[in-house]
Amino acid sequence: MTAYTLSNGSPEKTRTDVVVVGLVSTPKGPAAAPGAGSVASAYGRKFGPLLESMGCRGKRDELVTIPTAGTLKSPLLILVGLGEESGIGPDVVRRAAGVAARTLGKGATVALALPAPDAEHVRAAVEGIELGGYSYTDYKSVSSDDRPEEVVVLCKSARDKASKAAVGTALAVSSAVTRTRDWVNTPPGDLVPAAFAEAVVAAAKAGSCKVDVEVLDEKSLLDQGFGGIIGVGRGSANPPRLVRISYQPRRAKKHLALVGKGITFDSGGLTIKTGVGMQTMKCDMAGAAAVVSATLAIAELGLPVAVTAFVPMAENMPSGNATRPGDVLTMYGGKTVEVLNTDAEGRLILGDALALASETKPDVLIDVATLTGACETALGDRVSGILGNDDTLVARVRAAGSRVGEALWQLPIAEEMTVKVRTYSKVADLMQHNTDLYGGALYAAAFLQEFVDPELSWAHLDIAGPAFNKRGPFGHVPSGGTGVVVATLVELATELSGA
Ligand code: BES
Ligand code: MN
Ligand code: ZN
Repeated sequence: MTAYTLSNGSPEKTRTDVVVVGLVSTPKGPAAAPGAGSVASAYGRKFGPLLESMGCRGKRDELVTIPTAGTLKSPLLILVGLGEESGIGPDVVRRAAGVAARTLGKGATVALALPAPDAEHVRAAVEGIELGGYSYTDYKSVSSDDRPEEVVVLCKSARDKASKAAVGTALAVSSAVTRTRDWVNTPPGDLVPAAFAEAVVAAAKAGSCKVDVEVLDEKSLLDQGFGGIIGVGRGSANPPRLVRISYQPRRAKKHLALVGKGITFDSGGLTIKTGVGMQTMKCDMAGAAAVVSATLAIAELGLPVAVTAFVPMAENMPSGNATRPGDVLTMYGGKTVEVLNTDAEGRLILGDALALASETKPDVLIDVATLTGACETALGDRVSGILGNDDTLVARVRAAGSRVGEALWQLPIAEEMTVKVRTYSKVADLMQHNTDLYGGALYAAAFLQEFVDPELSWAHLDIAGPAFNKRGPFGHVPSGGTGVVVATLVELATELSGA
């Protein structure tokens, strides 16, 4: 664990192992960013030529390490590029701190002097270090914790209450994000539904705030008519679960219900995926991990908003007992669904959970799911899709996301998709799968909508693209599980608690 302190000292006089400052790019070349001025003065006229000799341009994601040889009190200077000065905001600081975090040595003491005009930037700086320095080492035989020992965040507002609170928020959000990443990165054979449910119970017990957890096993699920969860889980030797986790503060202003897709491994079932297609499918419980972690963070922060998360967990496997294309499932609440493609399993477990969540009449209902490859095709792997029945809620979630550096883009639930969902099946109430090639993300959302009480305000977050980073790290985001959307959910709850 890294210790964070705030100080209004200046970077060239702070005695740590490393000093981190920003560079901006200008038409005349790189220049010291806000917060780095005194470092530039310490170098005097040598600063410009030094940057030039190192090939610095001040571009985003650029990083250069320089031995200070006595020019500063600290022996090592890290310069991170921030791009143009006019573009600097909390997002840029989070990203730059994340880039820097990957080069900080184990046990180092660090003075972080990135632009920090206010508490939002302080929060972003701390999140950047915590999130960018993340690595998943549970299964490495030689694993090392290479986190810095202490980070001194240098900022003018060091004494302000808001800045101190920002550090607390950053740590709560970061630990929720890293827990989500840990769960997503865990090998799927070690996080089967029962194990995942137990891990949620353990995490809830470990927290300082009171949250209730209830786990329904396969027998209760069958008894209570959760036909979607049973139908998806029946092909696996590892039976499904439904976890309900709830935080009920006394002075709750609003009730937020969350639903998260918890497919612990998605082989596709009988409609089996290709080898390449299932390589990353341990990530198919990222929505579940995100809503659980966000709920725990909201509880830890003590926000006056009630949160209940409903988390269906199942493993989608082919077997002699698996659901077949052509089978009809009776979902929780009684609607029947014709299954056409067992690889469109997420909507089946979510339909059950959304129907259950709707019964609690929340003010806001949000589901999070790695639902469709089509959404990744549409938006790439850095932007989540958002669809829903209330454009005002969609706009609020998108705004919350943009405040914490997470991009969401609205897609429509086109009327024609609802018509298809309701009319394509000759044998059941609803058709699970769109046989037409295009618009898969829209069809999936239209299907989910059938299980949402239309009186409720609901949004669906499709994180199929951003949940898992198949490429190299960028900014504060590592390879593998990203923990996307956790910060957005906590931010939304913060907003609801003020309303
Ligand atoms: N879990 C996948 C979606 C997914 C794809 C998540 C890529 C992350 C990255 C989902 O269960 C799935 O298989 N969806 C199918 C739906 C199709 C059969 C209608 C898909 O996207 O191909
Ligand atoms: Mn699937
Ligand atoms: Zn899936």
